[in-house]
Amino acid sequence: MTNPAAADPDRFILDNTILGPTALVPEIRLHLADAVLALWEMTEVELQEKGVPPPYWAFAWPGGQAIARLLLDQPELVRGRHVLDLGAGGGIGAIAAAMAGAASVRANDIDRFALAAIQLNAAANGVSVDSLGGDLLDRPPPACDIILAGDLCYERPMAGRVLTWMRAASATGKLVMLGDPGRSYAPADGLETIAEYTVPVSLDLEDREQRETTVWKVLPA
Ligand SMILES: C[S@@+](CC[C@H](N)C(=O)[O-])C[C@H]1O[C@@H](n2cnc3c(N)ncnc32)[C@H](O)[C@@H]1O
Repeated sequence: MTNPAAADPDRFILDNTILGPTALVPEIRLHLADAVLALWEMTEVELQEKGVPPPYWAFAWPGGQAIARLLLDQPELVRGRHVLDLGAGGGIGAIAAAMAGAASVRANDIDRFALAAIQLNAAANGVSVDSLGGDLLDRPPPACDIILAGDLCYERPMAGRVLTWMRAASATGKLVMLGDPGRSYAPADGLETIAEYTVPVSLDLEDREQRETTVWKVLPA
């Protein structure tokens, strides 16, 4: 029997999140997990039983918030350009790019709940973002001018693949921006600082109340 959550991601998201502002970018409202809701407490096993992968889309990660802050404060970075948000989660980077006047915005994620959350979040902010499913990392980057990558260096295999791919994209002339709060597998070199932020974060999630977060330009290999 199909699990109701798996069958209707929109319903699951609306039932298990609260629409509210993000800490560093209050102009953007997202459907987010909240400590008063069951989703916050659900273990991976409970979610798996419901057919729901770990809900990264239900949090505004500091890397994505930093990218979004940068784009809203310096819209000229993306205005009139074609933007891809890789591993977009709830889509905060993509939504900021659309709000900043990008010509087109695509938000990619491997999780179909994230793709649903991106559409709900884009609508909540009055912008249009295309969702792009699947893993793009084993092929050349799709046509675009700018690639955003918020908080993707939290697991070693994933970070390695993302970095290789982003450096290859940078070598083709695209502007590749990585927002990272000092995750374990972030690269130590081959980066240029664009902006730095102190991002308020949840003590439960991050074991601290703020994270120093940098938006880097990823340089070619
Ligand atoms: C920590 S979240 C960051 C989300 C968002 N960028 C932000 O900063 O709020 C990482 C996201 O990467 C996605 N992801 C993991 N592996 C991926 C892959 N190979 N391709 C695309 N997305 C991936 C996950 O599903 C998740 O939504």
